[in-house]
Amino acid sequence: MRIRRQLILVVFPSLFLFFFFLYFYVVLFNARVASPSIAKSRLAENPDHLQHKQFSLLIGILTCPDKYERRHFLRLVYGIQASPLADIDVKFVLCNLTKAEQRTFIALEILRFNDIIILNCTENMNSGKTYTYFSSLPRIISRRYDYVMKADDDVFIRLAPLALSLEPLPRFDMYYGFVIPCSSKNPFVDYMSGMGFLLSWDIVEWIGNSKIPENDTYGPEDKLVGKWLKMGNKAKNRYSNKPAMYDYPGTNSRCSHELIPETVAVHRLKRWDQWLHVLEFFNVTKELMNKRSKLLSYIK
Ligand SMILES: *[C@@H]1O[C@H](CO)[C@@H](O)[C@H](O)[C@H]1NC(C)=O
Ligand SMILES: *[C@@H]1O[C@H](CO)[C@@H](O)[C@H](O)[C@H]1NC(C)=O
Ligand SMILES: *[C@@H]1O[C@H](CO)[C@@H](O)[C@H](O)[C@H]1NC(C)=O
Ligand SMILES: *[C@@H]1O[C@H](CO)[C@@H](O)[C@H](O)[C@H]1NC(C)=O
Repeated sequence: MRIRRQLILVVFPSLFLFFFFLYFYVVLFNARVASPSIAKSRLAENPDHLQHKQFSLLIGILTCPDKYERRHFLRLVYGIQASPLADIDVKFVLCNLTKAEQRTFIALEILRFNDIIILNCTENMNSGKTYTYFSSLPRIISRRYDYVMKADDDVFIRLAPLALSLEPLPRFDMYYGFVIPCSSKNPFVDYMSGMGFLLSWDIVEWIGNSKIPENDTYGPEDKLVGKWLKMGNKAKNRYSNKPAMYDYPGTNSRCSHELIPETVAVHRLKRWDQWLHVLEFFNVTKELMNKRSKLLSYIK
């Protein structure tokens, strides 16, 4: 009896205290870690905030179903970015799933993140995925965007500078990107690089309705888009954002140059050391590193 009473007097209060402090620790820790996404989701839910947004943009990153780790990393990279000017959604674009494991694992991703678009196509680079993406988009998403971008999964896009560069540009008949060839400064000849180019919604709809793209889907996807627009006499508004868009230093001769502060997009990030260099150069994690918080000791 005495032992049991001691148990009640000593063990229960200490257990209570333990859980009490654990609770506080979890709440504080979570509040600190989760605050950016909380702020973002509040922003998205509150229509008053949305009214201040000047335009909307969908960024579709074309990638393959099996690249789970790349999607995980890109979610981190884009999840901490936002722009006060634009309502920006980032989604991953896949063709048909072909393996049983993909159907389950990607279903998990969709349940958790709701950021995957699965198109009716067979996974490919240059036989029509970009066409299927633009042409089916108006049918498969429930809203319109001012702009739709196609991006590669080896490009780092800085959302705030991207939105800033788009703000003064027309919302219609617009074609934006990095004009090829590398040395060209004239967006009205040739086409925008597949690293990341952007079309206004009216052109996305045109791609879905016109016979011109439908008849011409095999070949380098970025070059074809330029060809369709030329044949259709489309995209009277064009903007090639050089030197803010480029290939990572040393990866592609004249399309590459050193990292610069006004960057919108860096392409050809194939290795982790390249991603690290880019994230460090743009101070992506610096804010956290500077905080004199307990978190720092865990990260160091
Ligand atoms: C999907 O694509 C295949 C082959 O191109 C076509 O036969 C089929 O009708 C398409 N299905 C839907 C739902 O669009
Ligand atoms: C994609 O999958 C759907 C459903 O399994 C099938 O009907 C369609 O033909 C496939 N499309 C292609 C292009 O393989
Ligand atoms: C489709 O493309 C072929 C070959 O480029 C061309 O001969 C044909 O006239 C085109 N058809 C249409 C409807 O544009
Ligand atoms: C990163 O931070 C350093 C130090 O504050 C600053 O000098 C540099 O301009 C920043 N870089 C960019 C790209 O903003």
